[in-house]
Amino acid sequence: MKVTLPHLRELKLTGTPIVMVTAYDHPSARIVDEAGVDLVLVGDSAANTVLGHDPVSTVGATMDELVILTRAVSRGCERALVVGDMPFMSYQVSDEEAIRNAGRFVKDAGAAAVKLEGAGPSVARAAAIVGAGIPVMGHIGLTPQTATMLGGHKVQGRQWHHAKRLYDDALTLEAAGCFALVLECLPEPVAAAISRRVAIPTIGIGAGAATDGQVLVLHDLLDMRGGDGHLPRFVKQFAHVGEAMRDGVSTFAAEVRGRAYPAQEHTYPITPEELSAFETAIEAGSAEDNVLADW
Ligand code: KIV
Repeated sequence: MKVTLPHLRELKLTGTPIVMVTAYDHPSARIVDEAGVDLVLVGDSAANTVLGHDPVSTVGATMDELVILTRAVSRGCERALVVGDMPFMSYQVSDEEAIRNAGRFVKDAGAAAVKLEGAGPSVARAAAIVGAGIPVMGHIGLTPQTATMLGGHKVQGRQWHHAKRLYDDALTLEAAGCFALVLECLPEPVAAAISRRVAIPTIGIGAGAATDGQVLVLHDLLDMRGGDGHLPRFVKQFAHVGEAMRDGVSTFAAEVRGRAYPAQEHTYPITPEELSAFETAIEAGSAEDNVLADW
């Protein structure tokens, strides 16, 4: 059964944790969908996980890139609800532009909903997109698109007045019609207070265990980024897929170079009669004529 917005509400009401992961391509989408996650976010983290932009920023991702990735992911998800992440500058300029870009995620890419970052001016954008009939997920706390304004990728809401502002932002985004909220990099008690107060589900990342759900970037939880970049404290690696990929490709290379692959079982046979006729034909130099005659 396809995950719906009322189903997500129900999960919050019954205290059942909601599971969200990112995905950026069709096979990964199929795998995470088969694994039974509730939400798949085609995050603008694609910028540094799969698109090779600046490794510590999401700002480089474009609408065109995310629409292509979201289309591939949507085709791979039978059960999970797909959320397209609105990239930096796709919703900041005006309500009209925000609605048009959100519409591309739904109409062109098959997403069920979109996510945008921040409060302040983003609240009106969220309301405008919801008003156009597209469900919106909010995102507060550490908002990577505006990390420079926040002084870097830092935990948010450590001072009471800042925590209170985030709390107020959560209420405002809920009032604007958001169906869920990502809470990124907040002290656990602050995320807990917000999660208790809003009726919509909260999905935490680096926000402790008291949110209504959890999200991680797929390439972090599977250890699939390549290289040896820094990982935030909140990431737990549940598998080492990068290592398995490196091992698999190294073994392939070694077997090709050692002529161990392909083995007999990987080849296609031809009957001795056909082979002998073929060899006779090419020795006689008439292979080309025969092929042409067959045509
Ligand atoms: O882009 C992304 O992956 C995200 C999640 C970390 C919530 O916004």
